[in-house]
Amino acid sequence: MRSLAFSISFALVMMAGQVFAQVQDFDSIQLYTLKNKAGMTVKVTNYGAIITSIQVPDKAGKLGDVVLGYDSVEGYMNAVDKPYFGAVVGRYGNRIAKGKFELDGQTYTLSVNNGPNSLHGGIIGFDKVVWKADYRQDKNEIELTYHAKDKEEGYPGNLNVSVTYQLKDDNELLITYKATTDKATPVNITQHTYFNLKGEGSGDILGHELMLNADKYTPVDETLIPTGELPAVKGTPFDFTKAKAIGKDIGEKNEQLTFGGGYDHNWVLNRSEVDKGKMILAAKVVEPTTGRVLEVRTTESGVQFYCGNFLDGRLTGKSGKPYVHRGGFCLETQHYPDSPNQKNFPSTILKPGQEYHTQTSFRFGVEK
Ligand code: BGC
Repeated sequence: MRSLAFSISFALVMMAGQVFAQVQDFDSIQLYTLKNKAGMTVKVTNYGAIITSIQVPDKAGKLGDVVLGYDSVEGYMNAVDKPYFGAVVGRYGNRIAKGKFELDGQTYTLSVNNGPNSLHGGIIGFDKVVWKADYRQDKNEIELTYHAKDKEEGYPGNLNVSVTYQLKDDNELLITYKATTDKATPVNITQHTYFNLKGEGSGDILGHELMLNADKYTPVDETLIPTGELPAVKGTPFDFTKAKAIGKDIGEKNEQLTFGGGYDHNWVLNRSEVDKGKMILAAKVVEPTTGRVLEVRTTESGVQFYCGNFLDGRLTGKSGKPYVHRGGFCLETQHYPDSPNQKNFPSTILKPGQEYHTQTSFRFGVEK
């Protein structure tokens, strides 16, 4: 299904000549809608593999769009301060210190785009390229593929990536990421959707109750690069092992909260040897006024919980309402930030002959 809004805005972008060099093959930007038997819908575009909309019911059965974003491609292309709304980020989601790492005796230099560091794959990461789409009606899924070239944004190796979004009838959106390479390279691909279970544009998310299945986290320096330590969350504002409102401890005097302007950290998921590589519950979020619930499951070892600290009301989304400070939160399942430079973190290096394969699911429900 091709969206008119997306086609028209594509033409406008062409005329205005904006960010033209960032995308190839404009003609193939499309918008796809997945719908399940329960009436839930998920919209996905092959520009940046972006989820543009997720409509789910509240406790009264009323559908609402619970993700931040735009209704045109140019919205995504031109957003100030690059929020990465709804996008797939890679080849390395999150930060790599100073945009440098060593691998097999060679130093690689990446595009630096976030202070001194490289963030979310560099200047033209996976969120800013056009993917090939294959919509499979029988499985209610869409597979997006992209070929990242050797040296693209400074990374070694030709990388073939695929991301599949499958919508199930029990309101679960299952995301499968796969990749292969012809040279050893770091890979850490994730999804950057901002959720607001009250509905996008409905104020901040501080009243949402969050549980994170994590006893430890990775504290950071002032440029948000992990220090390498893995301290316990117990007794700190980072303790979400029992559900609490996101806003409960966010105002505490804590150096870590100052660095991120709030929560913008990676939590170490409680994963035993037995469930290595299996899907485990990473997070559960309940929004008390609408009753909407989101459960996040993943095969990954960490989750970056970012609560929209850099949103400040300047961006106006698809319904014309401003996205206020902390107007959405992300739960980016992934390996830990800066792993290529951190000897004690699980490896993110993919080698020729290996297959990168991770899965994450977002499952929606209601609690009355
Ligand atoms: C990062 C934030 C960043 C945001 C948008 C998150 O994944 O952790 O620091 O501001 O993405 O770029």
